[in-house]
Amino acid sequence: MKILVAGGAGYIGSHTVLELIEEGIEVVIFDNFSTGKRELVPGGTVFEGDLHNQSDLEKVFRLHNFNGVLHFASLIQVGESYIDPQKYYRHNLFSSLNLLQAMLLANVKHFIFSSSAAVYGTPEQIPITETHPLNPSNPYGFTKFFVEKILQDYERAYGLKFISLRYFNAAGADPEGRLGEMHEPETHLIPNILLFLLGEKKGFDLFGTDFSTPDGTAIRDYIHVTDLAKAHVLALKKLPALKKSEFINLGSNKGFSVLEVIKAAEAVTGQKIPYFAKPKRKGDVDVLLASRKKAKQLLDWDLMYSDLNTIIETAWNWHKKQSMPK
Ligand code: UFG
Repeated sequence: MKILVAGGAGYIGSHTVLELIEEGIEVVIFDNFSTGKRELVPGGTVFEGDLHNQSDLEKVFRLHNFNGVLHFASLIQVGESYIDPQKYYRHNLFSSLNLLQAMLLANVKHFIFSSSAAVYGTPEQIPITETHPLNPSNPYGFTKFFVEKILQDYERAYGLKFISLRYFNAAGADPEGRLGEMHEPETHLIPNILLFLLGEKKGFDLFGTDFSTPDGTAIRDYIHVTDLAKAHVLALKKLPALKKSEFINLGSNKGFSVLEVIKAAEAVTGQKIPYFAKPKRKGDVDVLLASRKKAKQLLDWDLMYSDLNTIIETAWNWHKKQSMPK
């Protein structure tokens, strides 16, 4: 099996490439390295190209016969998407449209898409199942929502078969320390705490202490990136036998508040984590929690690393290694 991985040099993409290679699947990474990192390429063939350049895409499909495509390449900062929605719509929509066009031209019909819990917006019920209404509350979430709509039309009209994986809060790092999170700027909770402890961030801000939750801080469903990566391999393998395309939540069905995450990080690192309490960020909801019934049923996806301690420990090992003098 040979797979094209768009955005394979990013955080979730690189961990998935590692899993694919370990499963003996041949991988071609397509990345322009704008946010992807060369040091996160764990193997496979690299094709340096841009999803906005149709000739790069046509070339990679001419050079290789792919059985399927995984699409991770995306801008991901919710806050930035409010400030510069044009950047998000142009980037996330055009890249997906161009990739799908090249796939269809090459008669490649199997597609795994990196979607997000952001398609749901403010939850009407918890845990969130895949039938929950879609009501994104920011432009980033809308880009994922629109791509999902496009995929449904392409299924009907062109016989595309896809699984759209709706990630909850991806966190942690490869348990063997080979890969980890490397965003610039980093906006996510766990790396921000750890980078602060390593002296790479001046302070740690806790956004929002007035959420409707028991301790007033927001509750999220953290899922280990290696478990996420394994779900992609399962999705790829199950897709040919599925009767129709599917939307599947990838979460742990366990929620932790920001204060609980801080406490767990203090236990793992043995350090006190002082914080500045700041107002909540625009669009942050009280609680996000996934139902994982469908993922278990359709993908037979079990979690190996998604307990909070393992998530923080693996991330801590990775960030410590990164901050050591080379
Ligand atoms: N937080 C802090 N301080 C920080 C960073 C985050 O207090 O320095 C808080 C946030 O306010 C939020 C929680 O920690 O309450 C989690 O924040 P993250 O930024 O780590 O994650 P989000 O839940 O905001 O976002 C994630 C993904 C998005 C996706 C969203 C919904 O990063 O891409 O989940 O699925 F859209």
